[in-house]
Amino acid sequence: MSSDALPSRVEVYLDGNDDPIGIYQPPARFRLDTEDLEDGPHELRIVATDRSGHCGVRTIPFEVRNGPGIAVDGLKRGDVVEGALDLLVNAYGGAYEENWEPARAETPAPIPTWAWVLFLGAVAWAMFYAARTWSPSPDMAGSPTFAQWTGEIGGDIGPGPGGTPSADGAGAALYRTSCASCHQTNGVGLDGVFPPLAGDPVVVADDPTRHIEIVLYGLQGEAIAGVDYPTAMPGWAQQLSDVEVAAVVNHERTSWGNDAPTVTPDQVAQVRRRGSR
Ligand code: HEC
Repeated sequence: MSSDALPSRVEVYLDGNDDPIGIYQPPARFRLDTEDLEDGPHELRIVATDRSGHCGVRTIPFEVRNGPGIAVDGLKRGDVVEGALDLLVNAYGGAYEENWEPARAETPAPIPTWAWVLFLGAVAWAMFYAARTWSPSPDMAGSPTFAQWTGEIGGDIGPGPGGTPSADGAGAALYRTSCASCHQTNGVGLDGVFPPLAGDPVVVADDPTRHIEIVLYGLQGEAIAGVDYPTAMPGWAQQLSDVEVAAVVNHERTSWGNDAPTVTPDQVAQVRRRGSR
């Protein structure tokens, strides 16, 4: 580039005016006072001419905003609208405002939908996670409210450690919801109406077959220890799974001073396969 090619003159125009607002020798530093301009879009046009008379032109559109900023909620550029619109208009912090308060610059917009979606998603995940990881203490699992709840959502009544359904926990809960109304929580039954299970020969027998059979298929019109019971013991084959029957049977076999061998869900399944006598 020879020195001849260097621009020798720079003219600066504003908004399509034919009269330049300044003519300078490059490199030029000049000041554009926007306070004389109206707020809104403007255009600066710079024309540089070199010694050989060639022109270079550069236009720079810009926007002046000396007045307060304006925020509108409820109507966006290009929205298609009909009927009446509720708009929220806020104006904040112009260039001339001395004490600018950030709080006033925040347009009180409604919480955007995506924020709700995110929030609800987080809550749902937290509940799912809590439900998956929460294992209640035996005390709690045995409480009527909790037993009801696990019953409703088909809670995990799986085998405890060692493959035997736990006698407390699930078994106690099932007993409370399904059996205690007749045989009573403490297993003593009701004199002449519902037989006691504490110390009952069937419940404490080493062979659990009869115990399982009665729980699965019920019992009616059979004297127990010389007492006739007028009502029937309902069968539970339809309502309870093998795991659940084993759990409640084991609860009876190990509660109220009973100390009989416990059963596995497999043993219940065997009795079930044979069907009612
Ligand atoms: C509606 C009341 C009622 C409910 C609920 C009930 N039972 Fe019974 N149960 C009886 C009656 C009545 C008998 C005695 C029937 C007979 O002797 O004919 C009985 C008998 C039994 C026996 C036999 C005792 C024996 O010595 O022969 C066992 C075991 C038993 N129930 C366990 C259970 C279990 C476990 C549950 C819960 C899953 C349960 N019962 C729920 C009323 C009930």
